[in-house]
Amino acid sequence: PIPTVLDCDPGHDDAIAIMLAAATLDLRAITTVAGNQTLDKVTLNAQRVCTAAGISVPIAAGCARPLVRPLRIADDVHGESGLDGPAFGPPTIALSPLHAVDLMHRSLPATIIATGALTNVALLISRYGTAGIREIVLMGGSTGRGNITPYAEANIYVDPEAAEIVFSSGVPVTMCGLNVTHQALVTPDVVARMSALGPLGETCAELMTFFASTYRTLFGFEAPPLHDPVAVARVLDPTLVSCVDAHVAIETAGVHTRGATVVELDGYLGLAPNAKVAVSLDVPRFWDVVIDAVAQLTRN
Ligand code: BDR
Ligand code: CA
Repeated sequence: PIPTVLDCDPGHDDAIAIMLAAATLDLRAITTVAGNQTLDKVTLNAQRVCTAAGISVPIAAGCARPLVRPLRIADDVHGESGLDGPAFGPPTIALSPLHAVDLMHRSLPATIIATGALTNVALLISRYGTAGIREIVLMGGSTGRGNITPYAEANIYVDPEAAEIVFSSGVPVTMCGLNVTHQALVTPDVVARMSALGPLGETCAELMTFFASTYRTLFGFEAPPLHDPVAVARVLDPTLVSCVDAHVAIETAGVHTRGATVVELDGYLGLAPNAKVAVSLDVPRFWDVVIDAVAQLTRN
């Protein structure tokens, strides 16, 4: 298994990403960043998910706001708690006293999987440099259209300055954007497979049912896209998510395009690639690994 740190903002899809990473990778730490909800709420949610799934990995809270912009939360998608749907009991997993950035640093060498705004990861690089960061595999951006403005995806939009630090850091970066995560649709069949797994699977199904309701109302999706586990899947088995090398620029100054990921797929500018960009997902195998992960946590 690959040593990894998961930096996240749970969040319904982050919750499944935590389970997939804990079941399949050598997960050294879970760190949280404000994004889908405030830092306090997403941190509590990480503790709730780990308690429900029997995951004992150090959890540390990180940045409560983006590097320079005010925080914009996604309570319209993830609800008041950031993880609306199931009733979670009180968490029994304690928080690390360390700041997320310090826990990440102590967990290196590792691959960092980032499924929220890139604030903590940018701060890690600014404070400690890049030594020991094998790779950064992130859910964020898009080769095409956005999901929070016409051209920006939410994680990059929330902290574009942090994203710019990450993409220009020289660390190998893999971007799993909306163009691929919109293939990971949680259909009723997937929800039924989760429900059949017992109490943890039922909790996952309840999460997915809430997520489906907001995606239906807000965006007209028939089934919601499970973004964040796609980045975990890429680390687990690169053949699940195929990528091309490309230059990715982050729009930090645009009037209408703040947070857009400008991906040089056509070679117009002749810029050297600075990232691997996901272009396709093996959908049936992706769902098999997600369902297997929940099943494995259920057995543990
Ligand atoms: C991303 O934004 C968040 O709402 C999700 O958790 C995911 O990381 C999708 O744009
Ligand atoms: Ca997320």
